[in-house]
Amino acid sequence: MAEKLICVIGVTGNQGGSVARRFLKDPHFRVRGLTRDNASDASQKLVGEGVEMVIADLDDVESLKVAFKGANVIFSVTNYWEPFFRPDYRAKAEELGITCRKYAYDVEYRQGKNIADAAATVVDTLDVNGFLVSTLSHAAKCSNGTYKELYHYDAKADIFPGYVREKYPSLAAKASWIQTGYFNTSHRLLPGSYFVKVCQDPFTPPPHSLHHQSNSTNVQFVQLADDSIQMQLPTVPSKPQPHLAVAEDMGNFTYAVYQMPPGNNYMAAGTFCSWSDWITTWGKVSGSTISYNQVDPETMITASGDRQFGIEVTDMFCYSSDPGYDGGMELLTAEDLRKVSYLLGAIGEV
Ligand SMILES: NC(=O)c1ccc[n+]([C@@H]2O[C@H](COP(=O)([O-])OP(=O)(O)OC[C@H]3O[C@@H](n4cnc5c(N)ncnc54)[C@H](OP(=O)(O)O)[C@@H]3O)[C@@H](O)[C@H]2O)c1
Repeated sequence: MAEKLICVIGVTGNQGGSVARRFLKDPHFRVRGLTRDNASDASQKLVGEGVEMVIADLDDVESLKVAFKGANVIFSVTNYWEPFFRPDYRAKAEELGITCRKYAYDVEYRQGKNIADAAATVVDTLDVNGFLVSTLSHAAKCSNGTYKELYHYDAKADIFPGYVREKYPSLAAKASWIQTGYFNTSHRLLPGSYFVKVCQDPFTPPPHSLHHQSNSTNVQFVQLADDSIQMQLPTVPSKPQPHLAVAEDMGNFTYAVYQMPPGNNYMAAGTFCSWSDWITTWGKVSGSTISYNQVDPETMITASGDRQFGIEVTDMFCYSSDPGYDGGMELLTAEDLRKVSYLLGAIGEV
């Protein structure tokens, strides 16, 4: 029997799933996954892979305390976006007279607080670097107030590390704060929205297939009159951005972080390049004519269809120009982890 236990929040999702699968490869670990529905296909698949699935709800702090019992490591993630896809949450926001963006902030903040409150009850069993937290930079603070309503950033950062440092210093002393780059899957959040023309991903040439919808990873762009494709975002074309293949790399990154001393801030990303470089490379790989165009924020908001969603992501893309996606913070990267890996022995694939 493996002697260590990691409890993984969001295990049926992108980040948690990746983390669970990486720790499963370590024979010293058994993996407990938290879910609201342990009969779902995703849950059942994880059971088949060796994960102990337990029911817990981020809105129910008592269920989290039970789920965390005996944990040596906790991986924490919160999902800002769920209220946008739930009619009951939309209705609640309307009833309260607040935007869905603000309502989603309140939900994410509350759930983050519950995680921290429950994790604090098992702080004694946690390893020295046993609280591994997915978060983002604090936009309001890092932009000196320019972005006061970048809710999906600040809901995370207000708790992780804000609330934890203030309320639970001993838990904060065992924590690592992991910011995550742009996921390679983000375009699936709102299909048909903030990119306009459906085209096939670059890894399935030939170029003429750009005009057909792929069944797998669709990416959407604007098709220009000359038939070329243009990526349109409000981010300056020159600023490097962190990009993360979340399902493939989040687990490796988090596993490496676990082996470091606690207290550090990280950026989980496989690549740092501007959106312009990113899309130019994509064009080369796919043999397509693709360009990048910085558009004004309102163009992107309008193209988003859902105005509230549009404002939230447009603010993020603008913030990514200045002060930067990471808020201009000094963060450790995969490259840094590779440099020190000799100190730690086999670190796995970072
Ligand atoms: N897309 C990007 O480029 C990007 C970049 C950086 C950060 N992020 C952040 O990533 C976060 C989402 O992470 P993800 O993509 O890994 O999530 P995801 O794939 O959307 O999955 C959400 C996970 O959260 C769990 N969950 C949600 N509400 C829950 C609740 N009340 N109780 C228990 N579990 C709950 C779900 O579990 P069950 O449904 O099984 O209960 C599921 O496992 C967002 O906050 C977003 O801001 C995204």
